[in-house]
Amino acid sequence: MSAARRPLVAGNWKMHKTGPEAREFCVSLAALVSDAGPVDVAVCPPYTALEASASALAGSPIAVYAQNVHENEKGAHTGDISSAMILATGADGALIGHSERRAEGDTDAQIALRVRNAIDAGLMVVLCCGESLSTRQAGETEAWLTRQIRSALEHVQAGDIAHLVIAYEPIWAIGTGETASPEQAQEACAIVRRVASETIDGEALRVLYGGSVSAANAAELMSQPDVDGALVGGASLEPGPFAAIVAAAR
Ligand code: 13P
Repeated sequence: MSAARRPLVAGNWKMHKTGPEAREFCVSLAALVSDAGPVDVAVCPPYTALEASASALAGSPIAVYAQNVHENEKGAHTGDISSAMILATGADGALIGHSERRAEGDTDAQIALRVRNAIDAGLMVVLCCGESLSTRQAGETEAWLTRQIRSALEHVQAGDIAHLVIAYEPIWAIGTGETASPEQAQEACAIVRRVASETIDGEALRVLYGGSVSAANAAELMSQPDVDGALVGGASLEPGPFAAIVAAAR
């Protein structure tokens, strides 16, 4: 982690927690993380819990991000949510391009448009990328990440840096309990930074690691020079373990 880049720890709840459950969680988390120090903290509830989370966290330093956003401002897109709708819940940002969304059909072209639209609307964007086990075993991780980042940043400009974070999440480490080694996380996050530097100031870009991050492994992962924080799934579902990961980022 570089001293120049403020770390970010974000918890992706995926399809967990109703509005009332989110409210209860957020009240507990806010008590544990009343002062995150030099660390940015965010939770990423399901759409239906954004408003409850944002209102429970109002006045706390903890931000609220959605888990996806549609590329269009409005229209005939049944089941989708626009940037303006997310902002109106009181939320501040959105994940875009999570591998679980890509597996459900979100395309590279959509992801690039979503990044543009969300930044234009004023959302913080956490763009996700990462390779499968077969891609890694074939020795194609660098080529894969290069293609994903170039594609997702197609419509991004240098001035967007304050609204963009990239999370490297190897698919083989998500929800498996198998974490990338600190060396693997460092190597991949450095690749992400280098490729993103074709478009924006890579030295100012925050690059997160995600994939089976826990209170036990977070400090070592985030001590790598190109790892500026964590995108946490399972370990973000209880306030205590998530607060411990935030503490590890300090
Ligand atoms: P886990 O931490 O459960 O492996 O999930 C990682 C992830 O997908 C966060 O977006």
